[in-house]
Amino acid sequence: MSYILVTGGAGYIGSHTVIELVNHGYKVVIVDNLCNSSYDAVARIEYIVKQHVPFFNVDLRDSDALDKVFKQYDIQGVIHFAALKAVGESTKIPLQYYDNNIGGTISLLNVMKANSVKTVVFSSSATVYGDATRFENMIPIPEHCPNDPTNPYGKTKYMIEQILKDIHTADNQWRSAILRYFNPIGAHPSGLLGEDPLGIPNNLLPYLAQVAIGRRDKLSIFGNDYDSHDGTPIRDYIHVVDLAKGHISALNYLNKLETGEGLFREWNLGTGKGSTVFDVYHAFCKAVGRELPYEVAGRRGGDVLNLTANATRANTELKWEATLSVEDACKDLWKWTTENPFGFNIDNYKWQVFNDDKSDYSNRLHTVSFANGFKVSLANRGALLQSVVKNGTSVVCGFQDPSRYIEKSNPFFGTTVGRVANRIGGAKFELNGNTYQLAANEGANTLHGGFHGYDKQTFFGPVAKQEKNGDKVVNTFLFKYEDKDGNNGFPGDVECVIKYTVDDESVGIEFIGSHLETSPAEATVINLTNHSYFNISGTDSTDGTVVKAITNTQLEVDDSLLPTGKFVPTHTDITKPTKIGPDCAFDYCFVVNEAGSGIDTRSDELKPVLEATHPNTNIKLVAATTDPAFQLYTGTGIDTPGFKPRSGFCVENSRFVNAINVPEWRKQVIVKRGETYGSKAKYTFVDA
Ligand code: NAD
Ligand code: WQD
Repeated sequence: MSYILVTGGAGYIGSHTVIELVNHGYKVVIVDNLCNSSYDAVARIEYIVKQHVPFFNVDLRDSDALDKVFKQYDIQGVIHFAALKAVGESTKIPLQYYDNNIGGTISLLNVMKANSVKTVVFSSSATVYGDATRFENMIPIPEHCPNDPTNPYGKTKYMIEQILKDIHTADNQWRSAILRYFNPIGAHPSGLLGEDPLGIPNNLLPYLAQVAIGRRDKLSIFGNDYDSHDGTPIRDYIHVVDLAKGHISALNYLNKLETGEGLFREWNLGTGKGSTVFDVYHAFCKAVGRELPYEVAGRRGGDVLNLTANATRANTELKWEATLSVEDACKDLWKWTTENPFGFNIDNYKWQVFNDDKSDYSNRLHTVSFANGFKVSLANRGALLQSVVKNGTSVVCGFQDPSRYIEKSNPFFGTTVGRVANRIGGAKFELNGNTYQLAANEGANTLHGGFHGYDKQTFFGPVAKQEKNGDKVVNTFLFKYEDKDGNNGFPGDVECVIKYTVDDESVGIEFIGSHLETSPAEATVINLTNHSYFNISGTDSTDGTVVKAITNTQLEVDDSLLPTGKFVPTHTDITKPTKIGPDCAFDYCFVVNEAGSGIDTRSDELKPVLEATHPNTNIKLVAATTDPAFQLYTGTGIDTPGFKPRSGFCVENSRFVNAINVPEWRKQVIVKRGETYGSKAKYTFVDA
């Protein structure tokens, strides 16, 4: 399988282009040293495209590391975004710009050559034209407009174009598409990706967005005495998604050349339509819904009156045309800004790779910390809850070593459990006249989704966000897993999203299972939960924990732990404070609502169903759920090194056990094509 290597793929334009590449059927490898970007962008790319995109944290100038990527993947072509790009900064640290941009490109081209890869799409810029108004009749700017970059940044772009030209002259099998971008703006319509400038933004719209969100006082408009309809300069603003699509067109164009035929050619990527600073200002104010503060300041050095593209060459040759407007871009930028006011930066969140192979970013440990010391860690594998620390006490069982999670003895510590949590009797069920045979992984039954349940999957994401409401800080983390028709024997394509909502005393979990419209099956079965083991004792045993539940009714079970269909009282009345331990153990499904539930309980009351305290600590755990039942398991069977029986207890929200095989309960778990399964759980840790 061949890949397109995208340098700078974690950056603003690169990330949008990776999405378009994947949407157009390309396989992508990203190389980025994250010097002006965040890995979160890559995590969000994967979340959007629902595919793994290999990522390498490599500086292009490190030829050896780059060569390893070319050796590991069959690279068919390169889209080269990686560069430093701030015009003003380049005048202050020109050597770094030449070193990074030109040095990086030379290293890349050498590695490409050594690996016989001769197809490259290069991010150039309208800045290579310099002031096109120095000529008559050069606005809108055609590709043949003479070049005269006026700053070190622009000169690096110009020089790289020349390098590529010379390489093609020397070896005419090289295929180089030079794309000269005008002014890229906007963000991904999903609100998940956008520009995230470090420090004070230089560009118009990122600055204006920060004014709108309250991070800057007012916009300075650099001069209103230009020869335009309102006195402000004219630029060709292009939506970043249109720009990204231009790369696909260029790549397709290169790929369609005759075998052995090379090319060196420049294309402007712009809309061909100029807008003034005030035009853009008004469009953005309209998107925001209010007038934003501004002042007119003096002209900015180096600015010119008009930089509008003549994009005819790209329109006709590449069959590409910008279709989105400045208004569309402003709307998408505002969505990105309101949903990510600080871009990818979240002040109380950090992550680390959670794999033995530290270059594999697919499984990461995400830690969020609060001023009161409450700390929560989550991992991609199984979208699991690895740790919760309250008042210095670890209150959830978890492994420090990632490899422990894949051991057979792991009793599902902290993981998401699905597609169907708990047992399915006889490892089979009937739905719409079909009998589905599942893998029996616990005697004759299927437990927790089978051998390859959700606990063993690496979820995409997370989309990590933070909201501040006065002093209250709330962090959310969205993880996604695509569970395809036939996995573990289950019918239908299901997209599972696990949303954690964490504040300074609680961990909320939302379980969402969408049975996709495009699924081959009419209906499927879903029952999701989280398998955390809590321990609020401050020791390695939960013995002596006092629990109290709102129900004492459990599902009666037979010898193979399958419900008989009867509701019965449990052996000890747990609606009264009950001390758990070797003599008082539980592994039962407790019934909160005997009538059961529909398939989506998320708008139902989040009911506190069980609370727990331990005399050793002053921590009280309150477990709440919207589900009609929960499994209370006091951990008798824990048998994994470092933990002993009853090291933790579980309160797993769920539908009734084996519901699919009990006529009166089936509707709790049957999800028709296009429908969504949902439930919520919340674990709150308060002072007792
Ligand atoms: P960006 O800074 O968001 O993305 C560039 C990415 O390259 C970053 O993720 C950065 O970490 C990475 N990078 C930089 N040097 C690297 C190195 N030596 N090794 C590995 N990775 C490295 O910028 P962007 O706006 O997405 O721009 C992408 C490209 O488009 C750049 O080449 C830029 O010059 C060009 N361009 C941008 C604009 C614009 O207005 N944004 C306009 C014209 C051209
Ligand atoms: C746009 C207009 C400013 C900020 C730059 C690079 C160019 C390319 C794209 C990389 C101008 C005015 C801006 C502000 C303002 N990048 N403005 N107040 O300068 O056209 O192009 O980015 O290749 O090479 O030079 O973009 O967004 O900075 O400015 O009035 O706070 O907005 O004067 O007229 P520019 P910009």
